[in-house]
Amino acid sequence: MSKLRVGFVGAGGMANAHLKAMIGFEDVEIAAFCDPDPAKLELRVAELKAAQPDAAPATFADADTMLAETGVDAAWLLLPPFAHGAAERACLKHSTPFFVEKPVGLDWALTQELVAEVEAQGLMTCAGYMNRYRQSLRSAKALLDQDPAALVHGGWIGGSPSPKPGDTNIGSWWVIKERSGGQIVEQCTHTFDVLRYLCGEAVEVYARAANGFNKDLYSYTIDDASSVVLQMANGGVANLMSSCSANAGGGGVWLNVYAHDTTCLFTGWDHAVKILRKGAEAQEIKGDGDIFAIEDRVFVDAVRAKDGSAIASTYPDASKTLRLTLAANESIASGKPVAI
Ligand SMILES: NC(=O)c1ccc[n+]([C@@H]2O[C@H](COP(=O)([O-])OP(=O)(O)OC[C@H]3O[C@@H](n4cnc5c(N)ncnc54)[C@H](O)[C@@H]3O)[C@@H](O)[C@H]2O)c1
Repeated sequence: MSKLRVGFVGAGGMANAHLKAMIGFEDVEIAAFCDPDPAKLELRVAELKAAQPDAAPATFADADTMLAETGVDAAWLLLPPFAHGAAERACLKHSTPFFVEKPVGLDWALTQELVAEVEAQGLMTCAGYMNRYRQSLRSAKALLDQDPAALVHGGWIGGSPSPKPGDTNIGSWWVIKERSGGQIVEQCTHTFDVLRYLCGEAVEVYARAANGFNKDLYSYTIDDASSVVLQMANGGVANLMSSCSANAGGGGVWLNVYAHDTTCLFTGWDHAVKILRKGAEAQEIKGDGDIFAIEDRVFVDAVRAKDGSAIASTYPDASKTLRLTLAANESIASGKPVAI
């Protein structure tokens, strides 16, 4: 069987996660890594060679050169939110299908341009909203498509970050709003995407934020907490909350969905669900195994077969989740609701 040759753009934390996920794929050769930080390249090459001693990945500082010199069959764009644009354009130039981690950008005008180019070229893409492949979400979606939700509440609540001078990973940019977009755009984006997957599109977003509770954190400019109200196109309403200043526990990831005859209670990062239905036994579905391997397998198979029908989140679709979260930030800044 010929191997699919892939290259990673960005060799940080999520490159490590996708490397671990794909290292066991016998039909994939991880042929190249690209990152401006040589130390990250060294780390990822060492991890690959530890598992596959014969591997000889090429390393690069920029995506265009990597694609031109290696001709890989697909690229995984594992970049911080502020660093998008050049890698997507390189994939478009070389007609290289790409996987892109969430959030798919920060700059809405740039993202719209790239979406238009991807659609015009018909380039195959996949965005890293991996929860869409979970059995819990699939089962809930089948019910909610028939019995739409009137009310949703959910969110992502954790403790204070501890950024340090000299960090070279996610810690160096997550706490800077201009670099990450803040917790809504970078983290709670998963919950906004699950909301869209289960309940359809929103037509209006209104958000407020809390500040001044996290004190004296190095380079910190993001909100400490937020609450976002969404009016859904089907008439339902949702409230999604985020906090990164709750240090005594009791937070976590959750989403409660209430329809007329169906309640879906999702808990935890792995989105285990308890489904209640009027007149039926409660059903519980646990989280799946390695969700990154499940997600990567879908994209590998899609590229090999030149058939994207199993991809649950494409770049153009994922841009709509970015739009919602950027609208929440706009609303926080203006104090006014934002129409989508
Ligand atoms: N799906 C998930 O559950 C999940 C979890 C964590 C992070 N993420 C997302 O994954 C993305 C990457 O996060 P991370 O944790 O790997 O961050 P990271 O900071 O650990 O790694 C990012 C890497 O990109 C490199 N980089 C920066 N600009 C570049 C460029 N122009 N070309 C090539 N490389 C460049 C950096 O040097 C760094 O090594 C982010 O969008 C983040 O939100 C997703």
